Amino acid sequence: MEQAQHSFPHRVDDNTAVWAEFKDLTERYSCISLGEGAPAANPPQFLVDELMKAIQEGHNQYSRTFGHPILVQSVAEYYGKKLGQEINPLTQVIVSAGAYNVIVNALLALIRPNEGEEVLVFEPGWPCYIDLVQFAGGIYRPLCLQQKDGKWHFDAEQFKNSLNNNTKLFIFNNAQNPTGKIFTREELDEMSKILENYPNVIVLSDDVYEFLTYDGTQFTGFASIGDNFKKTLSIYCPGKMMCATGWQVGWAVGPEKLIKPVSLISTTQIYCANTPVQVAYGRALPQVDKPGYKGELSFVEHIRQEFQEVRDYMFKELSEGFDLPVEPLRSESGYFILLDISKCKELIPERYLKSHQFEELKEGQDPLKVNEVFMSDGSVPLDLAFCRWIAVERGVIMMPCSLFYHKESPYRLDQHVRLVICKGLDHSIKAIERLKSKRQ
Ligand SMILES: Cc1ncc(COP(=O)(O)O)c(C=O)c1O
Repeated sequence: MEQAQHSFPHRVDDNTAVWAEFKDLTERYSCISLGEGAPAANPPQFLVDELMKAIQEGHNQYSRTFGHPILVQSVAEYYGKKLGQEINPLTQVIVSAGAYNVIVNALLALIRPNEGEEVLVFEPGWPCYIDLVQFAGGIYRPLCLQQKDGKWHFDAEQFKNSLNNNTKLFIFNNAQNPTGKIFTREELDEMSKILENYPNVIVLSDDVYEFLTYDGTQFTGFASIGDNFKKTLSIYCPGKMMCATGWQVGWAVGPEKLIKPVSLISTTQIYCANTPVQVAYGRALPQVDKPGYKGELSFVEHIRQEFQEVRDYMFKELSEGFDLPVEPLRSESGYFILLDISKCKELIPERYLKSHQFEELKEGQDPLKVNEVFMSDGSVPLDLAFCRWIAVERGVIMMPCSLFYHKESPYRLDQHVRLVICKGLDHSIKAIERLKSKRQ
């Protein structure tokens, strides 16, 4: 009988996911992790209290499929103010199981599979977009962000030239993971103007880090500009905002013509999102910006200040008195900072650079299952080699940014690694101390 030829999406077919490899590395080499983007802090007490109250009040059964009435009302008011729009809570909001699930549903709802519909995405970017676009039957088209003098730049000319009549969606992550870039008002205006020539292009504005801006940098939602709301789904993540990433409820706002198909797909994935969590978020959302959470500061101002403090600490420690010639980049937002590690190549032992068999195995020890990713010239990416070396030799986990590009992307770079700044100052101090001391 003929062998079936199955075809799987990117990274399912030929790779151990990098997250799985790095989890195993953490355990085998007892590492401190600066890898995973989940905050160390617990949710604020006011949110926990609202959750307990919601359960005790009896909000424990299925609720409205597209979002609990208490939550959609709050979301419409909160983001309506931010975007300068009157948002109808019943027709212009969809709630699902995390921002991730909203994105999956949006791609499944909006892309006609295998009809050549293209999706533009900035790289380096959140790797899940790559798989999800393919899963939905779209064609992933990378756009390049370039780093110069510690800042990431968008190329308007390239953006213009990448658009065509097959472009269906533009996934626009602002504030951006992993770079921490916040697109300026001028950049947003430029993009909006270019997109006016392609009125059929839908924008999926992934704004999950919009609340977490540093140094007073202004964030402008894409949907708040001109008529952009009419073509944009703006996606938000309360788990990131309120330090409850495991609660997995997220939402999008947008025009009814986009919310409706996404809602219909949502009902094929989940009947409704977690009811008491929705009620708790609905009641907590109006509280996040209220002064007086810690001293004068609101809850959101407080976590901004905490994360910025960690960012500044890491930046200083990695810029000065560190034996490796790395250059930290000062992120403008989000859960991460990047390090430029391009000057470290000479220091990394050859076995990490030349092969995926980098371990010096003890008797009877099996090698780890690793992510066998290559650069276009067949070499092991420098950042992957660096991360493995640092994990084994110094006991700290970081993430290689070459994995934040499509494996065939012409823009793929291997010169940056990503570190989290969301684990609190104590954890970060321990990680930096570990990083600065070589293992015996
Ligand atoms: C850019 C980006 N979008 C979406 C998500 C998913 O958010 P959620 O935890 O609500 O599913 C993440 C999570 O890391 C992210 O970094």
